[in-house]
Amino acid sequence: MEQQIVLTVNGREQVVRVPLTRSLLDLLREDLGLTGTKKGCETGDCGACTVHLDGEPVNACLVFAFDVQGRRVTTVEGLPGLVPGGEAPAGPAEGLHPLQTAFIAAGAIQCGYCTSGMLMAAAALLAENPQPTEAEVREYLSGNLCRCTGYARIVDAVQAAARTLLSR
Ligand code: FES
Ligand code: FES
Repeated sequence: MEQQIVLTVNGREQVVRVPLTRSLLDLLREDLGLTGTKKGCETGDCGACTVHLDGEPVNACLVFAFDVQGRRVTTVEGLPGLVPGGEAPAGPAEGLHPLQTAFIAAGAIQCGYCTSGMLMAAAALLAENPQPTEAEVREYLSGNLCRCTGYARIVDAVQAAARTLLSR
């Protein structure tokens, strides 16, 4: 059984027909081709699938697609267009978000599988706490697992991006 839903993804309206059992993660990756959002555990434990739903971070693997009817989703592809404090990008944007620039500069990416989820979680953190301490960054990102970096460079990158955003 399928249901038609209308949602806004990265500032663009999308109309899709989805099976009732489809997750938001599969809707994004399979139906819309937005493969920046990664599929890890599919049980809500790794954070690789983190996206914003009406401005709040969620694990897309745990959200049914039909539940996003009429709502706004932001994925890593829309991150460059996300302004501080904004709930969703107005539309496609060029370039990189300061968080992405900071992750590259800090060497906070190795295999990259966790990166899009980390970026989206970090963006949500900076929206509610523009100047987080190291402990606050670690606590907020505790649901996002990274098997490669040891986390220190990720924390450094988030704090560097916070400084960049504050100086604008
Ligand atoms: S794939 Fe969603 S939390 Fe791991
Ligand atoms: S960079 Fe490989 S899991 Fe984080």
